[in-house]
Amino acid sequence: MRRRSFLALTGLAGLAPAGCSAGAEGNEGILSFRNPLRIPPVLDPEPGPDGVKRFALRLREGRTELLPGKPARTWGINGDHLGPTLRARRGDRVAMTVTNALGEASTLHWHGMRLPAAMDGGPHQMVEPGATWSPEWTVDQPAATTWFHPHPHGRTAVHVYRGLAGMFLLDDDSDTTGLPGAYGKDDIPLIIQDRKFTEAGELDEDFGGTFGLLGDDILINGTYDPYFRVTTGRVRFGILNGSNAHVFTVGFADDREFHIVASDAGLLSRPVAARRIRISPGERFEIVASFEPGEHVLLKGFPGGNEIEGGAYDLLKLTAAPRLAPSPALPARLAALAPPVEGERTRTFKLYGSHINGKPMDLARIDEVVPAGAREVWELDNITFSHNFHIHEVVFRILDIDGDQPPEHLRGPKDTVYVPGKTKVRVAVEFGRHTDPKTPYMYHCHILKHEDKGMMGQFVLVPPGTENTTPRRLDLSHHAGHH
Ligand code: C2O
Ligand code: CU
Ligand code: CU
Repeated sequence: MRRRSFLALTGLAGLAPAGCSAGAEGNEGILSFRNPLRIPPVLDPEPGPDGVKRFALRLREGRTELLPGKPARTWGINGDHLGPTLRARRGDRVAMTVTNALGEASTLHWHGMRLPAAMDGGPHQMVEPGATWSPEWTVDQPAATTWFHPHPHGRTAVHVYRGLAGMFLLDDDSDTTGLPGAYGKDDIPLIIQDRKFTEAGELDEDFGGTFGLLGDDILINGTYDPYFRVTTGRVRFGILNGSNAHVFTVGFADDREFHIVASDAGLLSRPVAARRIRISPGERFEIVASFEPGEHVLLKGFPGGNEIEGGAYDLLKLTAAPRLAPSPALPARLAALAPPVEGERTRTFKLYGSHINGKPMDLARIDEVVPAGAREVWELDNITFSHNFHIHEVVFRILDIDGDQPPEHLRGPKDTVYVPGKTKVRVAVEFGRHTDPKTPYMYHCHILKHEDKGMMGQFVLVPPGTENTTPRRLDLSHHAGHH
C-alpha cells in the first residue's frame, strides 16, 4: 500500500506533511476539503467617455496562506496571489496599464487573444521594474475563456509558478440560452495548478528534471484543499490547466457524464458528452455538469499514461445544497462552426529535446513569415516525449492526430494542443490580419520549462506579397523594454 493511502485509512491523513513526495504521484485520500474555493474577483470596468475600457494591473509580491497558518511568499496581480478575472465583450476597445512592482522585469501575455503583435505581451514587450506598459486593442473574436500570464524569456516558469496568472473571459452577442452564465454562482472558473510546498509552506522552486516541477499539492484558483457549494442543478466550469507541466485528466469520482461545451478559443458546435477530459498546460475547456440536491462528489484528476500525467488527484469537492435552483436544459447546438480550411501551405515543426526544428529560440531570428489572413496547415511532429504546442494570435482546428480524426471535443476552436510523445498532430491555422514585419508572435511548447529552455519560435504577419522581402533578423539593440 502506498504511504498516502495508508495514512488516509488510519485517519492520519491530516498530519501528513505536504511536499514530501517525489511529484506526480497523486494526492488521493489526503485532503479534507476545508477551504471554500476562492473565486477571483471580476475586473470589468465601465468604458470611459472615449468608449475605452481601462484595466489597471499591477504585478507585485505578496504573502498568501496557501497552507493554513503558513504564509508563503507569492506573486500576484492586484493582490497577493494570482490575478482578477478580466472580462470584456467582442467589439470592446480595451486598454491595459500593466505596472511592474516586482524586483525584476516581466511581461503579461494575453494567451488566446487575437491582437497586434506589439500588444501581445511576449518576450519582446518586457516591462522593467517600476515601469508601466500600456497595450490597447479591440476585442474581435468569439466568446472564449482566455487567460493571461507573464512571458519573459527564460523566466516564464518561475513567474507563473509564483502566482502570476488570471482568466480573461470574452463575451459576445451569440445566443447562449441554456448555458449557465452567472459568474461565481453557476459559471465557475477553475484554474488548476500543481505546486510543491516545503515543510514551511513555501512554494518549492525546484525546477529540475525533464519537465521541470511536477507537484502533488494542488491549488484551484489558488485555494488548497478546496470545496465548492453547488446551488444550481447545472454548473458550468471553465477549466484552465495553469500548471507548469502537469497534464490533468479531469472527471468526477463517480464517473458521471458531463458535457464539454467549449475549447480554448470558443464554443464547440454542440455539447459533447464525456466522462473524462485531458487538459494540458495552457489549454481550457468549459464543461457543464449536473448535480442532485444534497449530494457530494469529487472532481478528480485520473492517472494518465505517462510521466506528466501522474497519479490520481483529488481536486475539488462539490457539495450540493439541499435545494438546487433549476437550470435550463443545455442547448442542442452551440456555435455554427465552418469546417476547418486546409490552406495550401504546410509547415512542419519537429519537436524534440527542447528545440523546435533543431533550433533553440533566438529572439533576433524570425523563423516563419506568414501572410496576413493566411490559412495554413501546421504539422506538429513530436519525435520524443510529451510536449504541447501553443500558437499566439491564431485560432486553429485539429485536423488529425496520427492520421485519425480527433475526438469530437477536439474539433472546436483551439490555440493550444497536447502532442503526446511520438505523435503527429496536424492543425489548420487561421492567421489574423494585424501586420507587423518587425514584431514577432511566438509559438512554443507550453510546458514552461521547455519554453524557457528555448522550445519556442517566432513568426511575423506581413502584408501578402512581401514574404520574400521581409528581413529574417531583428535588430534588438533598442530592445530595452518599457521604462
Ligand atoms: Cu500561454 Cu506563449 O503562452
Ligand atoms: Cu499565448
Ligand atoms: Cu515540451
